[in-house]
Amino acid sequence: MRVLINGRLLAEENGADVEVIEHFALIHDVMRESEDLDLYHGSRAADFIKSIAGTWIRLDDQQLRKLMNACRYHSVGRLDPDTTIQTCWDADRLDLGRVGKHPKKTYLGSRLARDENFMKMAYERSVTRFVIEDFNDSIK
Ligand SMILES: [Fe+2]
Repeated sequence: MRVLINGRLLAEENGADVEVIEHFALIHDVMRESEDLDLYHGSRAADFIKSIAGTWIRLDDQQLRKLMNACRYHSVGRLDPDTTIQTCWDADRLDLGRVGKHPKKTYLGSRLARDENFMKMAYERSVTRFVIEDFNDSIK
């Protein structure tokens, strides 16, 4: 949910494809085999997406390709020139506080993702028990 919130907020500013971001938030870690180092979970997620495309996932070909690439490479520390793919990665990286890390600006691609205040708010969400009411209160 935190990745989804980060992604929606970023997309509102940069025009990234929210549909792809929402799918990414829900599915990018679904094939993790452990919470420890799992180098191929992104590739497995991309393969899984391919296997359910047209049934559980209904995106056009371009969206599907972006979703699969975003999932496949989300944990290798790359930057991507495509705004939607980069926004998926920014949304996920801004949640690194969940594993005790601070995101580094050099791995964030969009302007808002690198904003000090935005990073701080995302980090605070990542390290605290977060419920949707907290988010609703924070944007009032
Ligand atoms: Fe992941």
